[in-house]
Amino acid sequence: MTSHPNHHPAPITIQARRLEGKVILITGASAGMGEAAVRRFAAEGAHIVAGARRTDRLDALAAELTTVDNQVIAVPLDVTDEATVAAAVAAALERFGRLDGALNSAGITSDGTPLHQKPTDMYDQVMAVNAKGVFLSMKYEIPALLAAGGGSIVNVSSVGGMVGVAGISEYVASKWAVNGLTKSAALELASSNIRVNSLAPGSTRTEMWDMLPLDFQQHLASMAPMNQIALADDMARAALFLLSDESRWTTGAVIPAEGGHHVGR
Ligand SMILES: NC(=O)c1ccc[n+]([C@@H]2O[C@H](COP(=O)([O-])OP(=O)(O)OC[C@H]3O[C@@H](n4cnc5c(N)ncnc54)[C@H](O)[C@@H]3O)[C@@H](O)[C@H]2O)c1
Repeated sequence: MTSHPNHHPAPITIQARRLEGKVILITGASAGMGEAAVRRFAAEGAHIVAGARRTDRLDALAAELTTVDNQVIAVPLDVTDEATVAAAVAAALERFGRLDGALNSAGITSDGTPLHQKPTDMYDQVMAVNAKGVFLSMKYEIPALLAAGGGSIVNVSSVGGMVGVAGISEYVASKWAVNGLTKSAALELASSNIRVNSLAPGSTRTEMWDMLPLDFQQHLASMAPMNQIALADDMARAALFLLSDESRWTTGAVIPAEGGHHVGR
């Protein structure tokens, strides 16, 4: 009987920096989880293409984090504007010659009003940024990853993409849409060595969080059994797992990082 190859695995090596030499595009990089990811991924050895509308912030971030080993470049990007999405990917290819991964973090939140009281254009706006923005981002990222022979895409969803949340129905709809895009793209790309996953944060202290009314913040925070608010860097760590080879057998998944919120109370 021949033994299974896993009975004699190769020696385990620990990779010091888990994104060494990888080129990663981050949308919504000027604040919150996107900015935290720029910082953490650069420390893990990646070259970063940081995209957002507030380029003054990105320029400062690029100047702060670019070293002899890692370059961080800033690109103007509005995920609702297809031409700027295409230009951001083109900038990655022009500067680094390849793209290995993407964190699609750009998003906007809602205001806590019940569905029947919501202005219809609020639904349109949230869907345009959160759902169509992820569609457009992947549409241009995927050809670059195919050209590189593989890669990983992480779409920032939400615990609101796993459960319903009263008061933010259109936001929840947009995040379930993100997960649908994730799962379908994962199937399309599985045989091309490209993994696509959703990251589902819960309450996380960022500019988006700070914009929510205080009573709504308290309501949301009380839903997580771990009973605390995450830091943006906690999400950068989870995204790092999904972008690195540590998750090489994970695709089409919605990975919660929400203190147990979706499990129940
Ligand atoms: N903070 C939370 O509690 C929480 C919880 C669950 C999910 N999320 C999701 O996490 C992601 C990041 O949110 P955050 O909390 O870091 O928010 P944030 O507001 O701090 O950062 C979001 C970033 O996206 C950018 N952005 C918004 N619209 C854009 C557009 N059209 N084009 C390009 N960039 C745009 C913003 O300028 C900002 O840089 C979002 O997708 C959000 O829905 C956040």
